[in-house]
Amino acid sequence: MSTLSTCRWAVGLLLLAPLLGTAQDEKPRRQGARTALALPADVVELERFSVILGRPTAHSIALSLLSQSDTEAQVQHRPAHAQDWVSGPWLRLTGAVPQEVELADLAPNQAYRYRVLLRPNAQGPSRMGAEHSFHTQRAPGSRFVFELQGDSHPERGHQFHPELYAQTLRAAAADRPDFYLTLGDDFSVDTLPERTAATVAQRYQLQRPFLALVGQTAPLFLVNGNHEQASRANLDGSPHNVAVWAQTARNRLFPLPAPNAFYSGNTTPVEHIGLLRDYHAWTWGDALFVIIDPYWHSPQTVDNPLGHRDKAGGGRPAGDSAEGPGAALKGKRDLWAITLGEAQYRWLAETLASSSARFKFVFAHHVLGTGRGGVEMAGLYEWGGKDPRGRDEFAQRRPGWPLPIHGLFVKHGVTAFFQGHDHVFVRQELDGVTYQTAPEPADPNYAAYFFDRYRSGDRLPNSGRIRVTVEPDLARVEYLRSWLPGEHPAGQSAQSPAFVYELRPR
Ligand SMILES: [Fe+2]
Repeated sequence: MSTLSTCRWAVGLLLLAPLLGTAQDEKPRRQGARTALALPADVVELERFSVILGRPTAHSIALSLLSQSDTEAQVQHRPAHAQDWVSGPWLRLTGAVPQEVELADLAPNQAYRYRVLLRPNAQGPSRMGAEHSFHTQRAPGSRFVFELQGDSHPERGHQFHPELYAQTLRAAAADRPDFYLTLGDDFSVDTLPERTAATVAQRYQLQRPFLALVGQTAPLFLVNGNHEQASRANLDGSPHNVAVWAQTARNRLFPLPAPNAFYSGNTTPVEHIGLLRDYHAWTWGDALFVIIDPYWHSPQTVDNPLGHRDKAGGGRPAGDSAEGPGAALKGKRDLWAITLGEAQYRWLAETLASSSARFKFVFAHHVLGTGRGGVEMAGLYEWGGKDPRGRDEFAQRRPGWPLPIHGLFVKHGVTAFFQGHDHVFVRQELDGVTYQTAPEPADPNYAAYFFDRYRSGDRLPNSGRIRVTVEPDLARVEYLRSWLPGEHPAGQSAQSPAFVYELRPR
């Protein structure tokens, strides 16, 4: 049986327990599971064969097919209102090698159904897979739903429960969102005892059957996080480094968008990788969606150095103390060196300025890609223009750049900025821009990490997901929580949002 071994985290968690936040209205913290946790049956099934949808446009969508063993597959699709299936060619899938299929010539603003037929070979019996749905680009004036999660950290035994994660993802899939975003720290390589191309790729393989629970019916968009270590600072000019391994595995196992007529984004290839597919923007209904990434564009490490775990990470590498090499390196960073880079900054400014969408949503792992808090950090460095003592250094530090990032948000009417990293739900507002921090989807402690780093806003503990329903005149943001069976606090339910608010076009 597939398992996630968790016992190695127990000691680290006990050491770190005093440093972690507490959830005041929740059950006592788990002290780290000492036994291996079984994967849910549907996740095991998706390890054998899975489909992940990606990069939907007005006329197309990509399906990434992955089978554990050699097989043949045929994709069939139809408009939801039609009877007849359109059958694609039979494809030969090699075991453990993902293959992408692009469905083209689709109608815009249209619901579709699809299914996949599998057979061992041309002579063998075929087996029809379950039907799933997707939607092409919505027209302005449409109502639609998208959902997102914060840091899932499936490598952290004390902070991750596979059944809880599956519950969150199943619930998201049941809502039939048009797409699903993950906000980073979903493929952490920092805790790998040995980092090779194969072990780094395993982190992406570990996530794939989980994310397929929702990704088979909602195209996925992945935001880069600090623990992915997919970053410019880790490049060494060779193909043998963690940044190349991580981004290569990410782009191989997940069908992410590259710039084209529908998506704008990063057009600069990186040696040994090609196009990064790390930042992009698209329009859907009345909303502009923008994903940004500091990690691939900063000349120095943005957050933790490779192999160093943060305080919520449940342990440190041997020989590293809280004040040891990792912490020391982190303390010496010049936070002005954290940057989107000139090209991404210019693209972001142009993307926001040229869009007339009624809602503008921006996503990143965190303000600046490091630190704790939301609006507490938004005035600083490249994001806000000031140093910690309140001196405005932006013009000197970023000569020729018209505004800090938050200033761009204000000027161009960004509705909401979504981030992860802090493992807690917090809604804040600054200058009319909502700063929404997303909770973890699978924390069995239902903890409220880093509550104390937020000095304002509406704060709720883990776990769950965020659902956003966009209509022409309002967007409703809901926090849907998840609990393991029998662990619902009295009076709360996974079906009723724990927190709701509305956003208006700016
Ligand atoms: Fe993070």
